Amino acid sequence: MSTTSVSASASIIGNPTPRIDGPQKTTGSAEYSADFHFDRMAHAVPVCASIASGRISGLDISGAEKMPGVLLVLHHGNIGQLYRTVPGDDNATNSEVRSPFEDEVIRHWGQYVAVVIAESLEQAAAAAATVKVEYKKEPALVHAALGDYDGKRKSVSKRGDPDAAFASAPVKVDQTYITPIETHNPIELHASVVVWDGDRVTLYETSQGVVNHRVVMAQVLGLPVENVRVVTRFLGSGFGGKLFPWPHAAMAAVAARKLDRPVKLSLNRRMMFSNVGYRPRTEQHIKLGATKDGRLLALRHDYLSVTSMLDDFDEGCGEATPYLYSVANLEVTGAQPRRNFGAPMWMRGPGAVPGLYALESGMNELADALNMDPLQLRLLNDSDKDESDKNKPFSSRHLKECYDTGARKFGWEKRTPGIGSMRREGKILGWGLAGASWVAMRLPCTATVEFGANGRLCVRCATQDVGTGTYTIFAQVLHEKTGVPLDRIDVLIGDSGFPSGPMSGGSLVTGSVLNAIAAGANNAIKRLQQVAASTTGSPYHEASIESIAFTAGRLHKKDQPAADGTHFADILQMAKLSGISAEGKTVPTWEDPKAKEVSLHSYGAQFVEVEWEPEIARLRVSRVVTVIDAGRIINPKAAANQIAGAVVMGVGMGLLEETVYDQRTGQPINGNFADYLVATCADAPEIDVTFLDYPDPAMGEYGARGVGEIGLAGVAAAITAAVYHATGIRVRELPVRIEDLLPSKILEA
Ligand code: MOS
Repeated sequence: MSTTSVSASASIIGNPTPRIDGPQKTTGSAEYSADFHFDRMAHAVPVCASIASGRISGLDISGAEKMPGVLLVLHHGNIGQLYRTVPGDDNATNSEVRSPFEDEVIRHWGQYVAVVIAESLEQAAAAAATVKVEYKKEPALVHAALGDYDGKRKSVSKRGDPDAAFASAPVKVDQTYITPIETHNPIELHASVVVWDGDRVTLYETSQGVVNHRVVMAQVLGLPVENVRVVTRFLGSGFGGKLFPWPHAAMAAVAARKLDRPVKLSLNRRMMFSNVGYRPRTEQHIKLGATKDGRLLALRHDYLSVTSMLDDFDEGCGEATPYLYSVANLEVTGAQPRRNFGAPMWMRGPGAVPGLYALESGMNELADALNMDPLQLRLLNDSDKDESDKNKPFSSRHLKECYDTGARKFGWEKRTPGIGSMRREGKILGWGLAGASWVAMRLPCTATVEFGANGRLCVRCATQDVGTGTYTIFAQVLHEKTGVPLDRIDVLIGDSGFPSGPMSGGSLVTGSVLNAIAAGANNAIKRLQQVAASTTGSPYHEASIESIAFTAGRLHKKDQPAADGTHFADILQMAKLSGISAEGKTVPTWEDPKAKEVSLHSYGAQFVEVEWEPEIARLRVSRVVTVIDAGRIINPKAAANQIAGAVVMGVGMGLLEETVYDQRTGQPINGNFADYLVATCADAPEIDVTFLDYPDPAMGEYGARGVGEIGLAGVAAAITAAVYHATGIRVRELPVRIEDLLPSKILEA
C-alpha cells in the first residue's frame, strides 16, 4: 500500500504516528473484555432456538441442572424483572426492543431461550447441550427477496417532480440493485464479564459506546445509573456490531447477581451470525433521467431494507442521494419489510454504503447509455451546494479534485471503453470508478487533562478505541499542546466513569474529541501558570500570568528561553500538589451557529481495476486508487490503515460477503469463518490511498472529519463497473459470483 498526503506537516498533527497502544497489542498485554478474569468466576453458555418462528411449549432443564459444575439455568420462567429502554431516549439506545427472555415467543433462529452457568466453560457448554426445548412452530418468513412488499413507504427527501421529469427524459436508467445480508465479523467475539459489589455492578464489555451501554444496562436492570460501570479497554474491532448492548450482557448481569459471583459470557462465532446484528439486505430501485448531453433531470431512489419482527431498523440507503448530484427533480423513499431474522445493526458505512452502491451503479449505467466517460458524467453533474436542504453551502467539498487526482494516479485517460478491450499479460482488464461520501459532525465530548507531579500527563474521557487509533489521536493532541513526549502521556479511555465521550460510531470520534482534549490542555496549562505564580519559592512567584509561557513541558518567562524554564513537575512539587487537572468540552455541531449553516460531509473517489481470465473464470480486483477528502488528517498512518482496510472490505462486499439463511429453519447456514467469505490478504489488491487534507472550518480548530467508514463507500459500484468493462456482464446483485460471469462472450484473452 502506498500513501500520500498532499500537504505534509512538521507538527505531530498530520504526522504518521505509530500507535501508542501497539506494543500492548502486539505483546498480548492489552486486556480485551474476555481477558478479564476474577476469583470464583463462573461461565455462561446460552441455549439458542432451533426454529425461526413459534413459541416455546416446553423447556426441560432437569438434565442440565444435574450436570457437574452447573450452578444455574436462567430462562423466561426465572429471569425475574427486566425492563425495556425508554423509546426515543438517544442516550439509551438498545440493539433490541425486547429484553432477554421477556416472553416465550421465538422470532428468529438462534434467539436465546436459556443460559446455563457453571464452574467452567466446558461444564456450561456440556450442560447447555442437554437442555431440551419443545416448540409450537409457526410459519417463518425467512426468504431473502423483499420484492413482495406492498406496504407503506416513507418519503425521505423530495424536490421538484421526479416522475414527470423521468417520463420526458431523453436518456434513462431504470434498474434495481440488491445487496445481501452481510454479517459483522470482527476478530474479537462479543463478551460480557460482570462483577457485582452489593448493588453496584461493573461490566467488562465489548462496547463501541461505554456511556450509552451504561445507561441502557441501568434501565434494563432497573438500577440507578450511578450504580453501573462499563469498561472496554480494547476492542478487536466491531464494524458497528458493538455500538449498542445486546441481550447477552443483561443475561450475564442477572446470572452474576443471582449467584453472587463474577460471570463471563462470551459468544461463539456461530452466535455472532444470529444474535448480534447484521447489515440488512437492500433492494433499491434507481431511476435516472438525463439530457442527451448527460445532465441529470430526474433521480428516484426507492429502497427496501429488511428488519426483524419487533425492531424498526431503517438502513437509510438514501443518505447520500439527495446531496451528491445537482438535479432539480428527486425523491428518495424507503420501507422496511419484516422477516424472522434477528435485529439488524449499523455496519460500517450504514445507509450510504449500500445506497451509493445502487446510486453509483446507476450513474455508471447512465454513462454507458450516454456513451460518455463515467468520470465526465460525474464532473458534469457535480453539485456546488446541498440542494436537499434549503440549498445549504457545503462546509468543504472537494469531490472534483478527488476525481481529478484519482484519475491521474490511476491513469484513467488510458482507458478504452470497449468491453474486453484492455489487456495485460494475457488477462483482460476492467476499469471502473465511483464516488463516495459520508456524514460528518461533532458529538458532545468532555475530556479531563491532568498534569502530574510525577511528570506525566494524563487525559480521561469515556470514549473507546474500536481499533482505529483513538488512543494515539489523544496523545498526539496533548503532545502538540504541551510538548510532553508521547511516552509520558497516559490516555485513559474505555471506562464509563470518565467524563462523557462519544461512541465509536459514524466515523465521528476524531472530529468530536479533538476540541475537548485541546481545550482541556489549554485550561490545565492556565491552572499550572496560576500555580506557578501563587507558589512561594517558585521562580515565577508573583509574576503576572500573562508573563508566564509554557513550552515543551516547561514554564518560563516569555522573555526567557524555554530551556531555562522550570518543568511542570517541579512547580507542582514546590506547590505540594500531586497534580492539577482541568476539563475541556466540545460543542456539538448542532449547537454551533456556523456549523449549523453548512452541509457537512466527507467525499471520495474510488478507481478500481479487475483482472479477468475467461479461460478459468478467474476474477480478481488487482488495483484500487482511493482519494479521500475527509478534512484535515490527524494521523495519516492510522487514517490510511482505515481507508485501506475499508477498501479490502469493499472487495469482500463486491465479490464475497453474503449471509445465507436455510429456508427450512431460518438458520444462517454459512454462519462460520469457513463458509462466510471475507476478503483475505490473498484477495487484497494493490491499494493507493491519497488524502486531500483540506481542514474543514466547520469542524473547529483541527478541521478533521473522520475516516472510519468512507473508504468502503463506492468500492462495490466501481468493482461492478470494472467487471462489466472486462466481461460485458452487468451484475446488479451483490456479491458478484463466478457463475454470473460464465455467460461472458469474451472467451479469448
Ligand atoms: Mo460504525 S457502523 O457507526 O461502527
